[in-house]
Amino acid sequence: MNAHKPLVILGAGGHAKVLLALVQSLGLDVLGVCDPVLAEQGAGLWRGIAVLGGDAALEALDPDSVELVNGLGQLVGSAGRANLFQRLKLQGFRFPVLVHPTAWVDSSATLQEGVQVMAGAVIQADVVIGANSIINTRAGVDHDCRLGVDVHVAPGATLCGSVRVADRAFIGSGATVIQGLNVGMEAVVGAGATLTRNLEARHVLLGPAGRKKDAPKED
Ligand SMILES: CC(C)(COP(=O)(O)OP(=O)(O)OC[C@H]1O[C@@H](n2cnc3c(N)ncnc32)[C@H](O)[C@@H]1OP(=O)(O)O)[C@@H](O)C(=O)NCCC(=O)NCCS
Repeated sequence: MNAHKPLVILGAGGHAKVLLALVQSLGLDVLGVCDPVLAEQGAGLWRGIAVLGGDAALEALDPDSVELVNGLGQLVGSAGRANLFQRLKLQGFRFPVLVHPTAWVDSSATLQEGVQVMAGAVIQADVVIGANSIINTRAGVDHDCRLGVDVHVAPGATLCGSVRVADRAFIGSGATVIQGLNVGMEAVVGAGATLTRNLEARHVLLGPAGRKKDAPKED
């Protein structure tokens, strides 16, 4: 799905500012941003675009006149992004698929509504990515992977071929999932982890993080 209507960005945090740069790099028309905090502050502009207001401005938007960009990031355990998408879909809004110009998406891949593919990401042949998912900066999703809805593949993570990732799972930054494995619903692969066996729903795999010493080593 291509964006044809002016875009409204929801939220003004870190994920939203990356998305603003993405849509600007594509030359898309941005009407403004809706964010309760900016509205509360009385801000008129955010990063050069109009602040339309908070929740009241969002309610006043016409689903036939604009398309929405879900600027809420998805951290581990946060449901806000998925809930916002579902609520506004029920109100008739549409969310375009957004792909950064430096990302590679094979022509046989399927990206469902509202999928966001950030700079440098690579999505290979016959991949399917569910609605409202994020494939973040420099992440790789290799051939035949199937991702559910509201999945986040964080920066630099790698899914080898034919991996299955269920709804709302989180693949942490720099993690690797070996080919053919399953990641269960709402499961978390921690940053830097390597998944070598299936991960059950709602389970968390920690990576091999180094421990910091309490005091620096004396000479
Ligand atoms: C796995 C994760 C969800 C755990 O979060 P948490 O439950 O809040 O864990 P805590 O921060 O309380 O840490 C608990 C312990 O696990 C360790 N730990 C946390 N994350 C770890 C990781 N990824 N690899 C190895 N160890 C980890 C901590 O060092 C701590 O160890 P300690 O008890 O010996 O001090 C989280 O650390 C993580 O990896 N999140 C992904 C971050 C990411 O990719 N962000 C991208 C944003 S775009």
